[in-house]
Amino acid sequence: FSLKPYNTFGVDAKAKFFIKIHNIEELKDALNFSKEKSLSLLFLGGGSNILLTKDFDGLAIKLNLRGISEENLNDNEVLVTAKAGENWHEFVMFCLSKNYGGLENLSLIPGNVGTSPMQNIGAYGIEIKDVFVNCQVLDLENQTVETFDLEKCRFGYRDSIFKQEGKGKYIILEVTFKLTKENHHIKTEYGAITSELQNLGIEKPTIQDVSQAVINIRQSKLPDPKQIGNAGSFFKNPTIPLVQFEALQQKFENIQGYPNGAMVKVPAGWLIEQCGWKGKQIGNVASHKLQSLVIINATGTATGKEIFDFSTEIINSVKEKFGIELEREVNII
Ligand code: EPU
Repeated sequence: FSLKPYNTFGVDAKAKFFIKIHNIEELKDALNFSKEKSLSLLFLGGGSNILLTKDFDGLAIKLNLRGISEENLNDNEVLVTAKAGENWHEFVMFCLSKNYGGLENLSLIPGNVGTSPMQNIGAYGIEIKDVFVNCQVLDLENQTVETFDLEKCRFGYRDSIFKQEGKGKYIILEVTFKLTKENHHIKTEYGAITSELQNLGIEKPTIQDVSQAVINIRQSKLPDPKQIGNAGSFFKNPTIPLVQFEALQQKFENIQGYPNGAMVKVPAGWLIEQCGWKGKQIGNVASHKLQSLVIINATGTATGKEIFDFSTEIINSVKEKFGIELEREVNII
């Protein structure tokens, strides 16, 4: 069964078995089937953060739980819950159509609601942890439903319990966010938003304006996975000790960094570009010409292995030039 339509890289890897599930009962049936047949499992959300490097000799489960519900909290706040299979951007657009604020900076992020807590998706000054209340998960071991609150999720930069100790143990079923109804916290500090709002001639932005600015910025430099296979940022922005950063500043005057205590976060895109990778293509794979942090399936026929090997070459050259080891953000299967 080809998984090509289920991963945004558009890699044509195959799964031995495939099932699309629409509710918990179907999910449990699928899990029992995999147990009976001793099959390993691969869960597919929006497929926007995985790289399939080979065929999968097990059961791939596409999570298609749908539905959005709301609960009024008080005059200014509402709890909105979306099932895991809701498309993230459509969910953000739904909230904006109701004038619910909090997710506007996260417009146009590929993927589904259910995978948003996995890597604590973030962009333009916001991470989901800022508006997250809890998520319901299915414990794969004993098939019970549990609730994980903010603390239990242990969110960090592109990180959560679901990528650490909880890895492979839970399936996220739905996520609840606390959003504002009128006194919105408009966040425009991220430089690119400020300048885009200026371009649009907007002085007092609404949440819808912020969303539009973010959409414009993303569309101007990030490739649309529907047109060209990619998984967004392929690497995390590395965090290095301040002393190491200062030493690098001696050698590379233009190096950028965002200090955070004794550590400095360095934009991986800059490091990769400095190594000459921006826009460079090898075979079917390339680094995007407008944002080198994004690796693309340039011809549409790249294999996962080719993409993986390309990423290894980037890691090696950044390591050689800057002594910094880039870490992949995308899940390698
Ligand atoms: N830069 C370069 N060359 C490049 C790319 C970037 O020099 O090829 C420099 C830019 O000039 C800028 C800095 O790097 O000064 C940061 O670039 P940008 O604002 O584009 O953000 P980023 O750090 O590259 C992160 C997220 C994105 C998110 C943006 C906006 C990570 C790994 N990526 O990218 O997330 O949209 O910030 O907040 O943290 C994703 O995760 O898939 C993703 C797209």
